[in-house]
Amino acid sequence: MSDHLFYQTRQTRPFIERAEGIYLWDAAGQRYLDGASGAMVSNVGHSHPHVLARMSAQMQSATFAYRLHFQSDIVEQFAARLAKKAPKGLDKVFFVSGGSEAVETAIKLARQATLARGEPERFKIMSRLPSYHGSTLGAVAVTGTPPFAEPFAPMMQAMPKVRAPLHYLDGLDPEDPGTAAHYLKEIEEAILAESPESLLAFLVEPVGGASTGALVPPKGYMEGLRALCDKYGLLLIYDEVMTGGGRTGTYFAADQYDAVPDMIISAKGLGGGYMPLGAVISRNDLVDDVLDHGGFLHGFTNAAMPLAAAAGMGVLDVVEEEQLCDRATRIGGVLFDRLRDLQSAYPFIGDVRGKGLLLAFELMADGQSKQVLPKELNAHVKLVNIAYENGLIIYSRRTRNGTEGDHFMICPPLITTAAQTDELVALLDKSLGQFADLYLKEVA
Ligand SMILES: Cc1ncc(COP(=O)(O)O)c(C=O)c1O
Repeated sequence: MSDHLFYQTRQTRPFIERAEGIYLWDAAGQRYLDGASGAMVSNVGHSHPHVLARMSAQMQSATFAYRLHFQSDIVEQFAARLAKKAPKGLDKVFFVSGGSEAVETAIKLARQATLARGEPERFKIMSRLPSYHGSTLGAVAVTGTPPFAEPFAPMMQAMPKVRAPLHYLDGLDPEDPGTAAHYLKEIEEAILAESPESLLAFLVEPVGGASTGALVPPKGYMEGLRALCDKYGLLLIYDEVMTGGGRTGTYFAADQYDAVPDMIISAKGLGGGYMPLGAVISRNDLVDDVLDHGGFLHGFTNAAMPLAAAAGMGVLDVVEEEQLCDRATRIGGVLFDRLRDLQSAYPFIGDVRGKGLLLAFELMADGQSKQVLPKELNAHVKLVNIAYENGLIIYSRRTRNGTEGDHFMICPPLITTAAQTDELVALLDKSLGQFADLYLKEVA
């Protein structure tokens, strides 16, 4: 059946039959609990009747109207609602179809805004190692996952990277103000080493996504980063592709810091899996400067489709009406504690971390020294497959710069109930037990 279709590998999976709420069913009738919301996308769950109704109503009028030919009421309304969700002063919205497109948009907008202000020497985007910002070439250049960049290195302008605040590996207390100071010093040194006047922006996930496994920055880190950006004239861009849409307990994770970015990048939960959708929400004056100096040299054909905006509006309605930000905090707290219980039961769970329903655990051979499991064990693949057989979908990545270490994102839809959390944890418990029996005896 897959003679003509290809993605990253030859791996095949069962065919999807239907999806509803936090569950999906394959063509053979096997049910799966979506413990990763796809790839941290389905924040309001699958087939939500309200979202489908809004999309269906929009389909009766216009699905597509090219933005150079028509304005669209629903797109305008959606932009206004997003601007309201963003911090004060970020009122200008540019729609795209996904996260990588949104990252490209933000870095090109930053560059053109700087040109408009007469600082052509600023072109470098500093980001972190590890990090993930997308798979188009511009996004790969700012992504801190070396294996994703290596084949394409000759084709890209390498961008500077600085270590993410991996406090759990460095044995530092995230609540101690000295911890943030330690990592901020590293950033300042990196800025000075690059010559600050060549730097355009700092791109950062306010809570780490799949590359770090839900790394929460130490207290004061984001505020200190804002201060460093101001000191050296860098724009601060939050990549909220994964954290946005309520996942960390507020609509944008930006709301949890006393550090307002110059731009926010959003995707994934914005369209919630109902339509491909992304956005950049920018500081007003940056956009005005670009539009006053010849316009923004950028755009995608399918951006700002009325149907995508209707899907986004429907998802946003559900997030608000069902108070899903609060629920992410509440259910996320319960799930976090349950993951900690699993850590007590399975010593090879070396760390549990995250915020709201952006949670992860990391497997380690030794929790004390933080040693990873043997690389060739490929635990990040094996545990996912065992869970899949048990009807639980989880999402994994290599932890240490994308080359070794194994972490697993546990990020069910924000509509997940307490009873469904129990079900998820029971399936995960069973899967971890099977994984240990099958693979860890020989390692021990
Ligand atoms: C933080 C972050 N930025 C950007 C992207 C790229 O988004 P997309 O896959 O929609 O292009 C992702 C995708 O996982 C992401 O997690």
